Amino acid sequence: MKRSYRETPETIKGTFAEYAKTIGFSWKEFVMSVPSPMFLVTSYKSNGQPNACMQGWTTFTSANHGNGYYAILGSVNKNGHLYETLKETREAVINFMSAEAYDACMATIRNNQFEADEITASGLTAEPASWVNAPMVRECFMNLECRYVWEKEIVPGDDHTVVCLEVLGAHIDEAYLDDKTGEQGLLYNIHHQINPEKDKKQPTIMRAYSRKKLIWGNTDGGGVMLERPYV
Ligand SMILES: Cc1cc2nc3c(=O)[nH]c(=O)nc-3n(C[C@H](O)[C@H](O)[C@H](O)COP(=O)(O)O)c2cc1C
Repeated sequence: MKRSYRETPETIKGTFAEYAKTIGFSWKEFVMSVPSPMFLVTSYKSNGQPNACMQGWTTFTSANHGNGYYAILGSVNKNGHLYETLKETREAVINFMSAEAYDACMATIRNNQFEADEITASGLTAEPASWVNAPMVRECFMNLECRYVWEKEIVPGDDHTVVCLEVLGAHIDEAYLDDKTGEQGLLYNIHHQINPEKDKKQPTIMRAYSRKKLIWGNTDGGGVMLERPYV
């Protein structure tokens, strides 16, 4: 039997899943828990310093009768450095990290100052891309060089926007040529799954999974997120 959910379920009212709206998350993320790949987008700021931005709301698609491959960044903050640099340089690199490089990639969020080389400050290595004017991260096993194509707000006036990047080409670590989805492969962002039929005492945290292995999930089980991942 299927249960149907359209309005905020009663069990979610007063919990983090409802409060999350104030930081930009619908309760549907927690009830529906659709995964998306997680990666670092790198570009140059106007002062020449490398910028790095974790992104977790993206999908990839072919278009133009198979003549192009595109990343649809579903929600880019218009007040962040990534958006600013995309408008300025119109080029960026999408860097996929393994579980091993995950902590350093997350550290870029703390090293988000305009003056900072966010890649080096986070213990990673910046290398120039081959086909676009952007840095890429050596420790990430796959780097996609991209060109800005267009953007569109899902709802007019929103402070986040959908950005389409064309993937021009890729650099792939030889060890990953056969398989990019193993334990040390692609990471997926999955919001903690909440069963709306249960009581309010369910833990709430966004998690990163490499296949089935949990590498990020920090909760006291009381419905409180201890580590705030979005800053
Ligand atoms: C797992 C994860 C996924 C994220 N996804 C997004 C996203 O899709 N869009 C966004 O604007 N910020 C996202 N963020 C937040 C940004 O990475 C963070 O605010 C960053 O410091 C902004 O960098 P910027 O100033 O270079 O844009 C995410 C953070 C994490 C930890």
